[in-house]
Parts: sequence; structure tokens; C-alpha cells
Amino acid sequence: MKTFYIETFGCQMNAHDSEKVVGTLLREGYMQVVDEADAGLILYNTCSIRDKAEQKVFHRLNEYKKLHGEGKRFAVLGCVAQQEGDKIFARAPYVSMVAGSASYRHLPGMLQRLEAGETRITGLDDRQTDETFDTEFTARTNPHRGYITIIEGCDKFCAYCVVPYTRGKERSRTSASVLAEAQRIAQSGFTEILLLGQNVNSYLDPSGKRTFAELLAAVGEVAGIQRVRFTTSHPRDFTRDIVDAIDAVPTLCDHVHLPVQSGSTDILHAMQREYTRDWYLERIAWTKAAKRDISLTSDIIVGFPGETVRDFEDTLTLLDTVGYDTIYGFKYSPRPNTPAIHMHDSIPEEVKIERLAILNARQREIQRTNYARHLGQTMPIMVEHGANARGQITGRSTQNKTVNFTYQKMSEGSEIDAPSIGSYIDVRITQIFPSSLVGEAVSTPFAPSAALLAQQALNARVSVLS
Ligand code: 5AD
Ligand code: SF4
Repeated sequence: MKTFYIETFGCQMNAHDSEKVVGTLLREGYMQVVDEADAGLILYNTCSIRDKAEQKVFHRLNEYKKLHGEGKRFAVLGCVAQQEGDKIFARAPYVSMVAGSASYRHLPGMLQRLEAGETRITGLDDRQTDETFDTEFTARTNPHRGYITIIEGCDKFCAYCVVPYTRGKERSRTSASVLAEAQRIAQSGFTEILLLGQNVNSYLDPSGKRTFAELLAAVGEVAGIQRVRFTTSHPRDFTRDIVDAIDAVPTLCDHVHLPVQSGSTDILHAMQREYTRDWYLERIAWTKAAKRDISLTSDIIVGFPGETVRDFEDTLTLLDTVGYDTIYGFKYSPRPNTPAIHMHDSIPEEVKIERLAILNARQREIQRTNYARHLGQTMPIMVEHGANARGQITGRSTQNKTVNFTYQKMSEGSEIDAPSIGSYIDVRITQIFPSSLVGEAVSTPFAPSAALLAQQALNARVSVLS
């Protein structure tokens, strides 16, 4: 029996890539195991976005080799694989396969070579590839949220970022193929779709049929789909019609993740972001002008080379102006191949640490005020975890906020003891925390996939009868 173990690091794109890799391996007759010790083939799907990621990968491989390595095969996938290429064989000679994400469509062939005993197999992108991965064999791990990659790679070349070098050039799938996949996964019971892309809104339909906003709307109208999310948006390509689509199509979620990176126009320029603070704030103003309450979140880097106290202050005031619901703050770290690697990493580590702490403290205060608007509101929640020891069930709002709530049977005769995972339920918010909401269920749970299946069965009968 051919067995494999896969470990995944990094972003949602990488998590979804692993679903595709797993789907391919299962199709090729492999069995997935949950313990590395039981696996014949061990795959690490790596991330290289920050913090000397490559060193961590080598460390991890070496540790594992010492413990369990005998007779096992190793494959390094993902962004560190693409970045380091066949240098990996020199540093970790027991690795047999090194493959970046743009080569996964060739995985069946690479696996055959591995089985034939080859030990130096590479699948590396040269930024020439314009193929997208065929998603036929995806093994979806979340039973309710289906991920769909609509655009791969990145052509933006921000000064600090490895992604253009690890994920190749930008290439979009046709809107028809995205919609066919959306329909397929809706029919198999998924109610939430997450459209993925490193710059998801840079989507360019190769068939020229739909803009990104039109594709969003069309996915939102697929029968059975209750929620559509998309990530990550780039401010450069954030157009007003995206906000209009959210306003017009109820299934599109009330959330836009729009990383600003810095509130200082000078630093944005040095980062090669190609927009100014004011230009960014204009996109925020469009979003805030929507009829719906669209939650805004962002990524921020502190301590980019040359960031002055004044520049950092600009980032803090931007937080106040936008009023994000969440931010992900990072200390700048130099990455191989990037333009910024040639800049002097001028901000000392202790200053970066301090700025990150100040940033996070400021954001916590903002969230305290921001989240208060939800007190007393009733909102639909998708259930993600069953009750904990204190009887609290956990779910997520359309704004992507975590909501912990209690549930009591609506009526004595009700057969539903607790809402099942993946069902939807209305929750009234009774308490606010800086990064979560607490409430009580005020409706009976609704499992749309079951309802959809019943409806489809009914439609089928009606069409047979008529
Ligand atoms: N240093 C610190 N943070 C980085 N990010 C990307 N590259 C770097 C880097 N070299 C952050 C950005 C991006 C998020 C995914 O990671 O904020 O939006
Ligand atoms: Fe990490 Fe970026 Fe690669 Fe995602 S695309 S896995 S965040 S390096």
C-alpha cells in the first residue's frame, strides 16, 4: 500500500493547493495517514513569506530525518521549494522531489518517476507558465466551505514580497470553469465558497466574458450557495463595482480584506505598492458608503526599511480613520530575491517589536469600540464547532467574526437538540469582546444543503410528473 503524510504551512492558497495535491495522490492510489511515522511518502507544503522560513523547513526536515527517516521518501512543495529549487537536494540529500505550486498539474508524472526510484525530481516554475491547475481531483477537507482558486501567481512585485518569485506569473481561469466548479461543489452540499487568489480582484477572465465583480455576483447566484467570500484583494485593482455587487447580491459576504501595508505615502512608495494613502482611503470610502455594513480588515507591515516615527504615526492614524474590524500586523523581514533585500534593514529588531506592540494595542482599542455596534443585533451565523464544556457553540457571521452562542430548544416538541455543524442559525448578540461576539440563538437551525437537496428532489418529481 502506498501511503503519504502531508503537512501544510502558509496561506489559504497553500491550504487549498494541498487539497489538490491530496486529491491527486488519492487518485494515484495512495492512502493518506495521519502519523508521519506510518507514511512512505512525506510531503511538506511550505511557505516562505516571512522570518527565515527556509531555515525552519531545513531544520524540520533534519529533525524528522534523525527520528524516522529510514526508507521514507520526502517531497518539498510550495513556496520554499520554488524559492530554493534544487539547492534543497544539496542541503537535504534525502529529499527526492522539489516542486513549486505552478507544477502541480504534472504531479501524476512526477509521482511515477518517484515510484520508479528517481531521487532528483523537480517541478519548478520559470515565470513562463501560463497554465492553471486542473482542479478535477481536489480532496476538499472542509465539508461546508469550498475553496476555488480563480487566479494564481502575482505580477505586482511589491518590494518586500517573495510571492511573485514563488507563485509565478498571474494567470486566471475562465469564468465558465469557475462557475462550473461552483455548481459542482454546491450540488455536493457546500454552502459557502471562498474565491482565492494572491490578488483575487486582479482576476482577468481569459474568455473576456465577466469582470471580477460580475463573476462574484454569478457565483453568489449559484443555487444552494449561502455565502461567498473572496481573498485577498489588492487596493490597486479594487473597483467600485465590487462594492455594488456586494450591495446587490445577498449571498456575497459583508467583508473586504484590503491590505494597506502602511499608512505613509512615502513608505507605500518605497514598498512599490503604487498607491498613496489618499488613494487607498478613497476605496475605503466607497466601501463605507455601501448600503450594507461591510467589515474591513487589513495587513500591515511595521519596520520597513526607512520607516520613520512619523511614517509609523501615519499608520496609526490610518487605523483610526478606517476603523478596521481586524488587522494582521507583521514585522518586516527581508526575503530572498526581493528588491527590498538590497535596502538596508534599518529598523532595529527591538524597535520593530515595539511598533508592532503599539500597533496591536491601538487596534484592540478600535475593535472594542467597533464591535460595540453589534450589541443587541441579530445576525445569521454558520455553525463551525459544537458546544464546548460551557455549552457554547461557535460559528461565524457574514462579516467573518467569531460568534460564541448558547442554544435552547425553541419549543418543547422540537427534535433539534443542537444545531449541526454547517447549519445556519440566527443569534442575538448580548456581549462584546475585542475579537469575538457572544450571544444566544433566537431561531431554529437551518441546514440549507438538506433543504436544497429536498428542493431538488421535489423539482425532479415535478418535472417527471409534468
Ligand atoms: N515581511 C513582513 N511581512 C510581510 N508580508 C509579506 N511579505 C512580508 C515581509 N517580507 C505580509 C504582508 C502580506 C501578508 C500576507 O504578509 O502584510 O499582506
Ligand atoms: Fe506563504 Fe505567500 Fe506562498 Fe502563501 S503564497 S504559502 S503566504 S509565501
